[in-house]
Amino acid sequence: MDKPREPKAGEKMTEADAKAYVDYLYTTLYKAWHEKIHKGLFMTQLREGKLPLPVIRQFFKNWGHFSLEVNGLNAVSYYTHLPFFVRNFDLLGPFCAKIADELISPKAPGHVLVLLQTAEAMRLSRKEMLEDPYLPAARAINDFCHKIFIDGSIVELWGLHVFEESLSHWSGEWYTALTTHYGFTKEQAVYFSTHEEADMDTHQLGEGGEEAMGHGAFNRTVLTRALQDGIEYRAGYTMEYCALTMVDLHAQMKQAALDNPYH
Ligand SMILES: [Fe+2]
Ligand SMILES: [Fe+2]
Repeated sequence: MDKPREPKAGEKMTEADAKAYVDYLYTTLYKAWHEKIHKGLFMTQLREGKLPLPVIRQFFKNWGHFSLEVNGLNAVSYYTHLPFFVRNFDLLGPFCAKIADELISPKAPGHVLVLLQTAEAMRLSRKEMLEDPYLPAARAINDFCHKIFIDGSIVELWGLHVFEESLSHWSGEWYTALTTHYGFTKEQAVYFSTHEEADMDTHQLGEGGEEAMGHGAFNRTVLTRALQDGIEYRAGYTMEYCALTMVDLHAQMKQAALDNPYH
């Protein structure tokens, strides 16, 4: 895919140009994900059932902090970017549903429940998952998120969110590996089945029977709209940079777990 012209700060894009640029970003993200995550040592060994359990435990322990904090940041972003969603009122409902999803599905307090269910099967306690300090190399992904969620413009943030869709494929690989090679039941691997669905497909929101959009589809829609609304980003923080940095820092968290098995 040819690289479309890089959108510049201060511009507005036409709908067609915005769509083409969003497609380009997602294609580029998937390429990086395939090289650095899918084909990386960690996921390759996991798929083969050869990744040692202490490495899995260290990774998941750090991932616990990440997921909890990033869901908190998502709630903050409701306030930060509210003016955009008031102007684009049709997106406000799906935005609220996406934030709520992390906090109320399957029931309150949300995804942290399925996180702890899978953690328990790895013999990781709630304290180990949510309270122990995390590895410096593993926390970099959170610190980058914090930077973009708090300081970034809307296109920086939805550039970063391009990463989220890759978590659906990644979760599918985890789920298959844990249930085929590591003796996990479907219930024990629930964190990954939940995210394979939530990050890609339409799914149920909480227990009320309401539907929520797949997080990936929602993110694509917001970015396409934001590019037409008026582009603003800080020097050095292009959308592509924000998206690809997430892949690099995800790979860095995996390397940190490989280097520091948790027995
Ligand atoms: Fe989640
Ligand atoms: Fe998600």
